[in-house]
Amino acid sequence: MKILDDIRVLDLTHVWFGPWTTMMLAEMGAEVIRVEPPWGSIDRMAEGALFGGSSYTFHHLNLNKKDVTLDLKKPEGLEIFKALVKKSDVVVQNFSPGTMERLGLGYDVLKELNPGIVYAALSGFGQTGPYTKRRSFAMIAEAMSGHTRLTGERVDPEGPPIEMAQAYGDLGPGTMAAMCIIGALRYKDRTGLGQAIDVAQLDCMTAYNTSITGYLLSGMRPLELRKKYSMGRGGNFSGLMKAKDGGWIRLAGFGPRSQDMMKKYLDVEEVTKEMVEEEVAGMTRDEAVELFTGMGFPCAPVYHVDETVADPHLAARDMWVEVEHPRAGKLKQINFPVKMSETPAKVVSHAPLLGEHSKEVLTEMLGVSEERFTELVKAGVTSTA
Ligand SMILES: CC(C)(COP(=O)(O)OP(=O)(O)OC[C@H]1O[C@@H](n2cnc3c(N)ncnc32)[C@H](O)[C@@H]1OP(=O)(O)O)[C@@H](O)C(=O)NCCC(=O)NCCS
Repeated sequence: MKILDDIRVLDLTHVWFGPWTTMMLAEMGAEVIRVEPPWGSIDRMAEGALFGGSSYTFHHLNLNKKDVTLDLKKPEGLEIFKALVKKSDVVVQNFSPGTMERLGLGYDVLKELNPGIVYAALSGFGQTGPYTKRRSFAMIAEAMSGHTRLTGERVDPEGPPIEMAQAYGDLGPGTMAAMCIIGALRYKDRTGLGQAIDVAQLDCMTAYNTSITGYLLSGMRPLELRKKYSMGRGGNFSGLMKAKDGGWIRLAGFGPRSQDMMKKYLDVEEVTKEMVEEEVAGMTRDEAVELFTGMGFPCAPVYHVDETVADPHLAARDMWVEVEHPRAGKLKQINFPVKMSETPAKVVSHAPLLGEHSKEVLTEMLGVSEERFTELVKAGVTSTA
């Protein structure tokens, strides 16, 4: 049994934030049907290099899903989508606000078709407020919620802002969206009613920024606050340190326990970061990690991604799966990361080809005849892989 295996999700998402949300649901067992235009969503081709016809981010963000193409600007495409809404539990989209309404698929319409529908509208700034109409990507929310400035300040307090690596302005809010969709399904189980969920990247990234609470409580920006109270990131001898082989470690010696361990190890009354750095500079990266983790310090090697993939602990934690992709062959992919004893989530299938399940969904789920399906393909309403 999977936690969501009685749930069907219509997935109109098209860039990172949305596809991550629905993939979380798919990995927990929901039947997620991505609905793309017959010409393909923008994320299929977004990253230049293609693997079996799709970008690597598409492979990352769309595991366990089915894929149907529908031109929602054609009346027949719209009618088919509406028929699917009647047979589904959740609709998720991350278009710019107003798009669903222009397509004739606003929440009022979806609710009329299916009062139990859980409708999640994902956007940069939300469905209300002065900036609602602005288009957005992760870095927009990261910039306005303070993360970009704070990342720069950690490198150089006087220097320029620096963008966070990856796209946590997408994946963080996407995880919140998945959590609230599951919460709304619980409410639906109790009442039979659906609801609309408005998830804004900026709201979520603001909620993730603990330095904002530091400011609200002290009236000081993070740098001033740290200076006034001599606060560092995790004690006076923590940080990134370079080893003699050119590798780096991250030592996180927080709290009195770490202080005592380091004083004992170095045989000194007071520990400074310079002392620890000197010690690390005399060892290889792996020697330093072994020594400090062996003593009980939170300490890690700073990895490149290939080293992350090769690490034996992640393999032992079941973090990799092999899936067969019809065009790219056998692929090693990242498994669902959280372990649940009774309802384990798992990656079981590849990121789908464009229109791979159009025929299956239209004929088997909606009872469209083979002849009608062929006509719909000819008319450009749908397509197959
Ligand atoms: C990501 C974003 C900037 C992309 O902008 P964009 O490419 O101009 O896309 P939009 O969402 O504005 O519009 C999508 C268009 O495709 C159309 N479309 C989408 N699916 C369709 C389908 N199946 N059939 C026909 N048309 C379709 C929409 O109707 C819309 O057309 P319109 O502009 O004529 O109304 C924007 O979608 C956005 O701000 N989304 C919210 C924030 C977000 O999630 N950002 C991405 C995080 S990585």
